[in-house]
Amino acid sequence: MNRPTPRANIGVVGAGVVFDAYALGLAWYGDLPVVRVADIDVGRARAKAELHAIPAYGTPEELYADPDVDVVVNITPPVAHWEVTRDALAAGKHVYSEKPLAATAELARANLDQARAAGRVLAGAPDTFLGTAGQTARAAVDRGLIGTPFAATSFVRSPRVETKHPNPGFFYQPGGGPTLDWGPYHVAALVNLLGPVAEVVGTSAIPTPRIAVTAPDRVVDEVEVTVPTTTASILRTVSGVIVSTLYSFDIWDMTLPHIEVYGTEGTLNIPNPNHHDAPVLIKRRTDADWSELPPVLPPTCDPAVRLFRGHGVNDLVESLSGEPLRVSGEFALHVLEVLEAIEQSTFADGVRAIKSTAVQPAPVAAADSASA
Ligand SMILES: NC(=O)c1ccc[n+]([C@@H]2O[C@H](COP(=O)([O-])OP(=O)(O)OC[C@H]3O[C@@H](n4cnc5c(N)ncnc54)[C@H](O)[C@@H]3O)[C@@H](O)[C@H]2O)c1
Repeated sequence: MNRPTPRANIGVVGAGVVFDAYALGLAWYGDLPVVRVADIDVGRARAKAELHAIPAYGTPEELYADPDVDVVVNITPPVAHWEVTRDALAAGKHVYSEKPLAATAELARANLDQARAAGRVLAGAPDTFLGTAGQTARAAVDRGLIGTPFAATSFVRSPRVETKHPNPGFFYQPGGGPTLDWGPYHVAALVNLLGPVAEVVGTSAIPTPRIAVTAPDRVVDEVEVTVPTTTASILRTVSGVIVSTLYSFDIWDMTLPHIEVYGTEGTLNIPNPNHHDAPVLIKRRTDADWSELPPVLPPTCDPAVRLFRGHGVNDLVESLSGEPLRVSGEFALHVLEVLEAIEQSTFADGVRAIKSTAVQPAPVAAADSASA
């Protein structure tokens, strides 16, 4: 069988739950082969290598030293992101990191400074706003279909990880929690639509300090909660849009929308920003009812696949040939700084100014021409 010439060889560090979504997504491209997988638990790396017919596996150090690896995909838990990214950059690799870029904005900034000094690209998740929903909503805002946006809402409820993930401790520790674990999808989607954030004020709570793990294949029975599991905030974007957020792992269910954007001429209802492809709804001042916006892109993956990752890695690889980098490290750092401000904000502290800025990512080319 003829295989396409690889545009870049991928090495993946972290052979856990999300690995299969990356293996699937990168295989979908055909020319972004995973040539090596590594984990501090080499047995896990071997199991994923066998499952996905990946030619090499081993320790992270062996992966960094492998001259065949061009881009390192860092899908370790958030607390390990900074260290893995640092070591991969030091070995001369480009890096795509899962979210958040690091467990703190300070560590993420150190990674970015290192990447700039080394002339390497550092990019980061989430990449879901590159999908049909994110791009269709972006085209609607850019074309003025809802007039001038002035407000938005963004709500996260519990994804019930402790009922599904065998070792969910990191979801409740620094770098996790609803704000840093799910918030990246929401804030990246909002910055894609409305531009960067200027100010944040908020407050938070930890209603249940210990969580029972009920996943059938659990390796722990209980996890300690060390980050807020409910946060509420108000953001103000540089362009003046007011955004109200409620991010919670404690709310068991809700009927509130994932994201809505309110403009002077209408409202956009945006689906779960953890996924690439789903309908975006619009209701304009003169509309009797909601209607579905025609997608500006074809579906970016098989609609039957719940979890698909790899478009961000492709975005990084395309940027190596001069295309715009949408999932840039600067964008991921800005999202992280906003989320950190939401998580740490107290009413007593008052409003926090966001130091970093980020340009709105360029629309995906096909979506841009469709909306022209
Ligand atoms: N699980 C999901 O559905 C999901 C979805 C999207 C994004 N993510 C993100 O992907 C990342 C990984 O999540 P996961 O659920 O796969 O985690 P996981 O705990 O299942 O797997 C992480 C793997 O990384 C390994 N590891 C830990 N520290 C390491 C280090 N220093 N060097 C090398 N390997 C190391 C662990 O041994 C483990 O095999 C997180 O940032 C998470 O936010 C997860």
